[in-house]
Amino acid sequence: MDQSLKNGDFVLVISVEERRKKTRKVIKLKSGNTYFTHLGSIPHDKIIGKLSGTLVSNDKGIKYTVFRATYNDYVMALKRKAQIIYPKDIAALLLWGDIYQGLHILEAGLGEGALSIAILRLLCGSGSLTTYEIREDFFEEGSKNIVNFFKEKPTNHNIILGDIYNGFNGVFDRIFLDLPEPWHVLKYMKSGLLDGGIVISYIPTVLQVKTYIDTMQELGYFADIEVFENIKRPWHVKGLSVRPETWMYNFSAFIVYARKRYIENTGGS
Ligand SMILES: C[S@@+](CC[C@H](N)C(=O)[O-])C[C@H]1O[C@@H](n2cnc3c(N)ncnc32)[C@H](O)[C@@H]1O
Repeated sequence: MDQSLKNGDFVLVISVEERRKKTRKVIKLKSGNTYFTHLGSIPHDKIIGKLSGTLVSNDKGIKYTVFRATYNDYVMALKRKAQIIYPKDIAALLLWGDIYQGLHILEAGLGEGALSIAILRLLCGSGSLTTYEIREDFFEEGSKNIVNFFKEKPTNHNIILGDIYNGFNGVFDRIFLDLPEPWHVLKYMKSGLLDGGIVISYIPTVLQVKTYIDTMQELGYFADIEVFENIKRPWHVKGLSVRPETWMYNFSAFIVYARKRYIENTGGS
């Protein structure tokens, strides 16, 4: 299979000159276009046809390493109108959500589509992802980001413009909620989440977590509830200076995991 970088691919361009401040930029390759930096320019055609990891020089002879953009590179470079779930948390969501091919997954809201892309990538065209989004502008924006990433609209993805607080259609193996008031959706899971299914919510404040968990407990069909945050602490490693960075992105949101249990008196959902 031809692994070379092609027209339309997203690439990460990193400056390698030690004495200069390192720059990282994600660009979409387009034949005829030029990538301009304060240090000089690189025609995209100089990159197209090369392998990921290749070294290219700009017009001033300064070297850059060019890699095929990863999911992380792509998502972090998105121009964001909605707050995305950061890759460090998405990694945890996918694992705690136990995502694998063939599952039928529900998600709300779409936002920039960061979580949708990660789920769709793991589904590899199998199963389905249904995403509810209330705002038309995010419906457009998130859809565009997803199509840009996959270079086409994934056929197993259905985006519904609507308010999930009014309920949803279908029965799902997994549900992901990244919404201001996720507790409004829990009552629909009695019939809309399979017994044994997993629901994960991404919740920014403790008061929201409290309301959410209180609602779960009142409804009575959720078990194995777990609340955690995921901390990524970057380190500085240069010569003899090996220590944690003096800054860190301290808090993003709480991740709340739960499973739906069989409901005996109704014969299950
Ligand atoms: C924080 S963003 C989601 C970001 C997304 N998870 C990502 O990683 O890119 C929250 C989204 O939920 C949408 N939203 C809020 N309330 C909603 C509702 N009741 N039904 C459907 N979508 C809703 C918002 O319009 C917004 O796009």
